[in-house]
Amino acid sequence: MVEIDLDITRAKTLPSKYYTDPQIFESILSKFKSTWNFIGHASQFEENTVFPININQEQLVITKSQGQFSCLSNICTHRGMILQHGKECKKTLTCPYHGRTFSLDGKFKHMPEFEQAVDFPSPDDDLQNFDLEIWNDLIFISQEPKSSFSKWIKDISERMSFLDLEKMSYDSSRERNYTINANWALYVDNYLEGFHIPFVHKDLNDALEYNQYETELFENSVLQIGIAQEGVPYFDIPEGHQDSGKKIAAYYWWLYPNIMLNFYPWGLSLNLVKPITVDTTEICYSGFILDEELLGSGAGGDLDKVELEDQFIVESCQLGMKSSSYKSGRYSPTMEKGVHHFHRILTDSSD
Ligand code: FES
Ligand SMILES: [Fe+2]
Repeated sequence: MVEIDLDITRAKTLPSKYYTDPQIFESILSKFKSTWNFIGHASQFEENTVFPININQEQLVITKSQGQFSCLSNICTHRGMILQHGKECKKTLTCPYHGRTFSLDGKFKHMPEFEQAVDFPSPDDDLQNFDLEIWNDLIFISQEPKSSFSKWIKDISERMSFLDLEKMSYDSSRERNYTINANWALYVDNYLEGFHIPFVHKDLNDALEYNQYETELFENSVLQIGIAQEGVPYFDIPEGHQDSGKKIAAYYWWLYPNIMLNFYPWGLSLNLVKPITVDTTEICYSGFILDEELLGSGAGGDLDKVELEDQFIVESCQLGMKSSSYKSGRYSPTMEKGVHHFHRILTDSSD
C-alpha cells in the first residue's frame, strides 16, 4: 500500500493504479461497508413501504412499518432467493421461491412444509438487520459501522446548527442520476478543491470570491467554504456562531468516502458518488429546500451546468490515469489540502 506523505509540500498524489486497477478498486470498496450510506428522505416512504436497494454489492431492503424504519437483508434465509424486486407497499415480505414469509422488521413468520424440521425456526431464520439512523429526515444505513452515527455526523451537525434543517422538504424535481466513465475517486478529488473553479466553472467563479475560498479538514470529512461576491445570496449566520460576520454562499461538505452535502441559502443538494466498476461511477443528486424564493440563484444556482463541466474534466482525467506516461503528480500546498487529506484517508483505510 502506497504512503501519501503527511507533508503536503513534499507529498506525491495517489498513483494512477488506484483509479485503474480492478483489485485495488475491490479492496477499497470493501471498506465502504464500515461507513454510513445515504438512502433517501423519510417522506419518500409511506407506511408499509418495502424498498430494495443495492449498496456496496449487498442486496438490502428498507422497510417502514408502524412508523419504524428497518434495513434488512433482501436475501431469503431458506435458499438465498432475492425477496423483493421493486418498491411496493405491503405488510409482509414473502419469498417468491417457496413462500417463506417475514414481517417488515425481519422476523420469520411462516414457512410451508417445515413442520417436521427440528429446532425450527431459530434466530438464524430471521432476516439480518443492519444499522439505520435518521438525521433531519435523511436516512443513513451502515452494514458494519466503524464509528457511531452521531460521531460521524457531529461536525456537520454542529456547524450547520444555525439552519432549521428539520424543516427541509424533499424536492423530487431535483433528482438526477448520471453515469460517468471515470473512477469514483477522481470525482471526489475534483470535488475537494476549488482550485479549478476559475478554469472550469466561469459562472460559479463570478459568484464566489476565489481568494477567500477556505478548506477545513476533519477526521473523516472536509469542509470547503465559498464566500459570496457582491449581490450573491449568502447565509444569515447568527452572532456567536464561528462563521458569524462572513458572507458565506455555500458550505461544501464531503464525508468519507462518497457523500457530499452542499448547503446553500436555498437548501441542501446532496450528491452520492456510487462506484459501479473501476472506471464507471453513478452520481446521484437529491435536493431539499429550505427557502424556495432563493432557488436558482447564487453559488447553488445552475447545478446541472456545473455538474456537466466537472464530468468533462473527470472523464478526461480517467483517460490520463490509463496512460503509461502518467504515474502520479504533486499537490498545491495552498489549494489542494482537501485532496491530500482524502488520499491520506483512502490509503490508511485500505491497508
Ligand atoms: S428460497 Fe425463499 S422460500 Fe425458498
Ligand atoms: Fe467543479
